[in-house]
Amino acid sequence: MLILGLETSCDETAAAVVRAGKKIEILSNVVSSQIELHAQWGGVVPNLAAREHVKNILPVISAALEQAKITPADLDLIAVTNGPGLIPALLIGTNAAKTLAYLWQKPLLGIHHVEGHIYANFIKDEISKVKSLKSKAKSDIQFPILCLVVSGGHTQLVFMKSHLHYEIIGQTMDDAAGEAFDKVARILNLGYPGGPAVAAAAKCGSRIVDRGSKNDTRYALRDMRLPRPMLNSKNFNFSFSGLKTAVLYTVKKNPKILQDEKLIAQLSAEFQQAVVDVLIHKTLAAAQKYAPKTILLAGGVSANEELRKQLGTAIKKTLPQTQYQLPETKYSIDNAAMIASAGFFRWKIMSDAQRKLTLKNWRNLKTEANLKLK
Ligand code: KG4
Ligand code: ZN
Repeated sequence: MLILGLETSCDETAAAVVRAGKKIEILSNVVSSQIELHAQWGGVVPNLAAREHVKNILPVISAALEQAKITPADLDLIAVTNGPGLIPALLIGTNAAKTLAYLWQKPLLGIHHVEGHIYANFIKDEISKVKSLKSKAKSDIQFPILCLVVSGGHTQLVFMKSHLHYEIIGQTMDDAAGEAFDKVARILNLGYPGGPAVAAAAKCGSRIVDRGSKNDTRYALRDMRLPRPMLNSKNFNFSFSGLKTAVLYTVKKNPKILQDEKLIAQLSAEFQQAVVDVLIHKTLAAAQKYAPKTILLAGGVSANEELRKQLGTAIKKTLPQTQYQLPETKYSIDNAAMIASAGFFRWKIMSDAQRKLTLKNWRNLKTEANLKLK
């Protein structure tokens, strides 16, 4: 079947067409990013995001259909993110989807944004694997699954006994991991979006540390040791707000850091490592308790090279029987192919009567800023 996916929950206007059956193939994956617009404000401004979505949504959909070489009549389903996210932004996507579903008389499904991130892992056309790991075909992903979801809005450990069944076994008590990256980037004047900027700076930082010379930057590094929050707590929850504050205090105590690229690089590397250490520790602890057959990584922060690599190495070392899956980077960050992929799995388990009802979703679909994963 052919599915049109739409995503506008934050600052990407995205549309994709997938062919779904035994596998999920991407026919087109169009993303219009608003990075430049929001960079000048240091973060996403919801109303500006909505205006951009209004401008871009139809051209993006039209490009997705064109690149997939299909017409609207060929579509079997429309799947759209209907929450959680910024409500002015979400409404543009859901309203476009409802209008088109009405006009084209197509079934319409609302998809939870995090469910989309998780199902990015089931996209088959890309081989997403860490080189050193034996990777199975995507359709072979085995349940139960433990999924580490790390994005700008979420940091959760989700246990799945089977498709579309979610048990949240741990989550952040305050900031999400991506949010912490974004805030630390602002403290270090690295710009927006913060995750990739901190990661790029950290790359130079680790090289300096690896070299291990006796110059003063090494001395500075001792001063820069950051905490690993909640590492010893007995649950699977996270907290990143204190870590971000620790970066702020380090800079306040030592203002010369901001004048020195090498020190910024080292502090970025230490911050990134602190986040990665906590995420890996909690994921492995949860895996010891829940014994999943597969560990999945999902969400925008799953684009982080160190996290991808180090989690893979840790799983191989401590849980060698456990499969490790992660999405191709372009499906880590917000996109609409992942929404179409999740739409397919939802559609698959529906009865004929339930499917018929989705033809009425042009009227009934709700958009919710705080939609819960269930
Ligand atoms: O999933 P996503 O695209 O949007 C949300 O659902 O929030 O995630 C965006 C988040 C941002 O906080 C961004 O800074 C972070 O993911 N991010 C990264 C990297 N690429 C994106 N964080 C760390 N390292 C990266 N390479
Ligand atoms: Zn996202």
